[in-house]
Amino acid sequence: MSEWWRDAAIYQVYVRSFADGDGDGTGDLAGVRSRLPYLAELGIDAIWFNPWYPSPMDDGGYDVSDFRDIEPVFGTLAEAEKLIQEAHNLGIRIIIDIVPNHCSDEHPWFKAALAAGPGSVERERFWFRDGRGDGPPNNWQSRFGGSAWTQAPDGQWFLHLYSSRQPDLNWTNPAVHEEFADVLRFWFNRGVDGFRIDVADGLVKEPGLPDVTDPNGRLPYSDLDGVHEIYREWRRIADSYPDKRVFVGEMWLPDPQRFAMYLRQDELHSAFNFDFLSCPWDATRLRQVVDATLAAHAPVNAPATWVLSNHDVTRHVTRYGRADTSFSFADRQHQAPTSLELGTRRARAAALLTLALPGGAYIYQGEELGLPEVEDLPDELRQDPVFTRTKGTDIGRDGCRVPLPWSGDAPPYGFNTTGTPPWLPQPATWASSTVESQTGDPASMLELYRSALQLRRTEPGLGDGPLDWLPHQPNGVLAFTRDGAFACVVNLSDQPVDLPPHTEILLASGPLDGARLPRDTAVWLHQATTPSSS
Ligand code: NOJ
Repeated sequence: MSEWWRDAAIYQVYVRSFADGDGDGTGDLAGVRSRLPYLAELGIDAIWFNPWYPSPMDDGGYDVSDFRDIEPVFGTLAEAEKLIQEAHNLGIRIIIDIVPNHCSDEHPWFKAALAAGPGSVERERFWFRDGRGDGPPNNWQSRFGGSAWTQAPDGQWFLHLYSSRQPDLNWTNPAVHEEFADVLRFWFNRGVDGFRIDVADGLVKEPGLPDVTDPNGRLPYSDLDGVHEIYREWRRIADSYPDKRVFVGEMWLPDPQRFAMYLRQDELHSAFNFDFLSCPWDATRLRQVVDATLAAHAPVNAPATWVLSNHDVTRHVTRYGRADTSFSFADRQHQAPTSLELGTRRARAAALLTLALPGGAYIYQGEELGLPEVEDLPDELRQDPVFTRTKGTDIGRDGCRVPLPWSGDAPPYGFNTTGTPPWLPQPATWASSTVESQTGDPASMLELYRSALQLRRTEPGLGDGPLDWLPHQPNGVLAFTRDGAFACVVNLSDQPVDLPPHTEILLASGPLDGARLPRDTAVWLHQATTPSSS
């Protein structure tokens, strides 16, 4: 069985916003099933679904109330099984999200814990503590703003690193281990090919739950050594299946060496590369990230991954059109001036860069359509708890979660056929962004992605394997070869540059200037000669 994840192009489906099959304004599994041929034609190898479990949707489904079923608004378990089968028939693998750090306050375990009271075994599955004086047990802050503790009616406090409706689970309790082992098997037995692990670094907390003393240093709830034991357990479960079932970890960690520890041979298969996502559009910085990524992954023989956007971050078309093109949660930019024309040109170049780098690549739904962040959503329609918990200081993540435009000239742009307004409103300007209007237009983002993904399958150098930087490049140019013949050149400088000697241009992200590569443009080509690596 091939190690398929090592070079897979994985498409992220945020179910609520992908396609609405039953016409109630919210995306669902029927919508996804109807669009599987679109994804097959796009040329992806796998789909990663954001959480599809029953959920009160306080945090877009990352507040799970039952890990063994499907959110009724999305469909049924039987439908998920059909979807998995249909995707497999099209050669598409399925990865689903698992959320082991916390559950919903409507999960039966948490309801039982509240009812059972202090000192009960039910409370031992969570982090219930008495307060310090009138206040919470320690100074930990929720990642969504405010204290990480909320008081239960009987006076005890419970820990939630995210919203107060997402109580943290206690991984020192064997019952929690057993439950998740069983949940993994439940879905593996239904054919899922892998799991994306939410907050993969966060499950283990420092004994005694000490105060955070340095908010910029190591936190007592992130990346503790004990977390690796959990993934060794999980890996044994995945490996007990005859075909290859995989894990991809979500860890935002500053230290590439600590990051790579999760990718040791008996732990996770891969993890999202957020250093690449966060990196500004700058050749030197990008090259540093690529080199550091490959250097960190090599000793553990794990494939790198390359990610530009997801459901938590500002869409990169918008980011790349700003003066500051980087991304950071701590310093998320809101409505900073952007040129979507510039952002789109760079996003096109970034797509060719991303899909040419060694390893796996993630595509967030709508990125293949060149969608920008929707920054002018009315406050009263925003649903992200980040917005409410920070009292609007952080505008939150709704702007990258607006439902996709498929066809037609006006909302809902084929998102459904009933005309029901989508759960978040789509901009009036998206008529030219629909799948329908981009299909067949060689200058469109969609056709660029289709061509690139097709070439990714036919060009032998692409996907997993070595990368060699081409020597003697002008400042601001990233140029590398993958197997001697194939080369990718990206011009991030402010002027056109000469193309290296080549026999064939395979694909360009924008019009070339004769034999020159304009600024913010990328090209894939076959080289005339095999150069020595730098
Ligand atoms: C990371 C997920 O990507 C994000 O959407 C979610 O809010 C947090 N984890 C908490 O589950």
